[in-house]
Amino acid sequence: MKTSEDILKLLSAKPKTALGFFPTPFYRLDNMSDELGIDLYIKRDDFTGMSLFGGNKIRKLEYLLGDAKEQGAEYIFTYGATQSNHAMQTVEACCRCGLKPVLYLTAVVEPDENDIRGNLLLDKIFGAEIHIISINEGETEAEADARSRKMAEEQIKRMEAEGKKCYNVPMGGSSHVGAAGFLGGFAEMSQQADRRGLDVEYIFHSCGSGGTLAGLCAGKKAMGSKAKIISVSAMGHESDFASHCAKIGNDALKWIGLDPILSSEDMNIDENYYCPGYEQPSKGGTEAIKMLAKSEGLLVDPVYSGKALAGLIDHVRTGKVPQGSTAVFWHTGGATALFAEHEILGDII
Ligand SMILES: Cc1ncc(COP(=O)(O)O)c(C=O)c1O
Repeated sequence: MKTSEDILKLLSAKPKTALGFFPTPFYRLDNMSDELGIDLYIKRDDFTGMSLFGGNKIRKLEYLLGDAKEQGAEYIFTYGATQSNHAMQTVEACCRCGLKPVLYLTAVVEPDENDIRGNLLLDKIFGAEIHIISINEGETEAEADARSRKMAEEQIKRMEAEGKKCYNVPMGGSSHVGAAGFLGGFAEMSQQADRRGLDVEYIFHSCGSGGTLAGLCAGKKAMGSKAKIISVSAMGHESDFASHCAKIGNDALKWIGLDPILSSEDMNIDENYYCPGYEQPSKGGTEAIKMLAKSEGLLVDPVYSGKALAGLIDHVRTGKVPQGSTAVFWHTGGATALFAEHEILGDII
């Protein structure tokens, strides 16, 4: 069994570029705890920095861009929706590191050229090269994503033929290198919980491309923690998603010199809260956003963290998380979506 110190020491031997402000705050949500009847803590990864608009990707990008720099890359390619938090955080991190970001963004919600909002606006201010891929009639989102990756690959080929070194960051930064950031995240939170004498029983977080889940579960298992991690999906996933995440987590463990120990049974992926769909507001998500805002003065978003919080609230209300339990809500960021297109936010006021 590894300790948090062991994990952090192994990670310190890997190439990394310091981007965020760590450890992120960890504290009790007194009012939400009273309302829900549990002992509820928050892990503020919305607060990773570097700008006001951080989130869970900064932990991943510290290792991804560290790796990119070690490989001598100059251009960073990445992917997502036009309102992707991951893309925006990659762009801001590239600016800090003197790297050139190139984005291929699928227009899940078509932006209005005359009223650019949220993360896409930030991407433009940061000066990213942006390619917007509209979804063709009869094409699925996944097909448009695949087409966008193919277009990027062709651009990378052309640029490399001109001697320009490119580095590919997968959607969500969810490679084993990115997930290693959340191995560190789990160790960091464990130290904070230990210092408070807490026995964390549940951790809720939002799940998209799976790197956060993979890193957290790998950290939990390597350290023998009993906490149950509940990964609330922001979208529907393929049936092999859990084994895909287990592989990323195992590769992250191997990358830092540990044995692969994860299997798909170690994942608790809850797909009950993302409907009606990705980037489409839900009743539970809207209620969760308002509840946290009014009781704690904190913001979550309608696409990811609000739906994860809706999952937590529902698990408590239905007794799946018993009264009196100690739970952590891992805030992964994303509140810029509150300033995105109306279709994404819905009728919240
Ligand atoms: C705010 C927010 N929370 C959670 C996630 C999901 O993280 P992951 O892609 O590692 O599953 C994302 C991914 O983009 C996100 O932007």
